[in-house]
Amino acid sequence: MQRRQFIKTGCSFCLLAAAGSMLPTMLAYAGKKNNVYKTTINENKQAEIPLSLFETGNLQFVRIKRWYYDIAVHKEEDGTYTAILMKCTHMDNQLSVNADGFECSLHGSHFDKKGAVTQGPAELPLTTYATTVQDQSLFISIPNSEE
Ligand code: FES
Repeated sequence: MQRRQFIKTGCSFCLLAAAGSMLPTMLAYAGKKNNVYKTTINENKQAEIPLSLFETGNLQFVRIKRWYYDIAVHKEEDGTYTAILMKCTHMDNQLSVNADGFECSLHGSHFDKKGAVTQGPAELPLTTYATTVQDQSLFISIPNSEE
């Protein structure tokens, strides 16, 4: 085997090994993407989601058609639900979830699980929506659908 051939073969193995080591991370990320429930707003300005979603976990994500930001819906220990828009109140960046609530990767704001600011520069709490349970559905009231 010539030197050039050896290098080509060696690099191919390195790329395959790197891709293989990243596969579990990629699959986990793909799984999170699939965990978003897509819906629309009905004529009563409500987004309806099935309560059965919460059989897989107390935190679910809802994506309303044509909205940029997701809504995080948390089932509380007392059986009530909290719906929070994942939009940073500092400069509108999409938030991500952490162990304590939500965080913004743009300037570092943190919010607790109820949407209150725990670390700035954001000063205002996150937008929350009223929720009601009826039959086997959770209804999230959306007063304005401009998001
Ligand atoms: S946009 Fe979120 S902290 Fe600035």
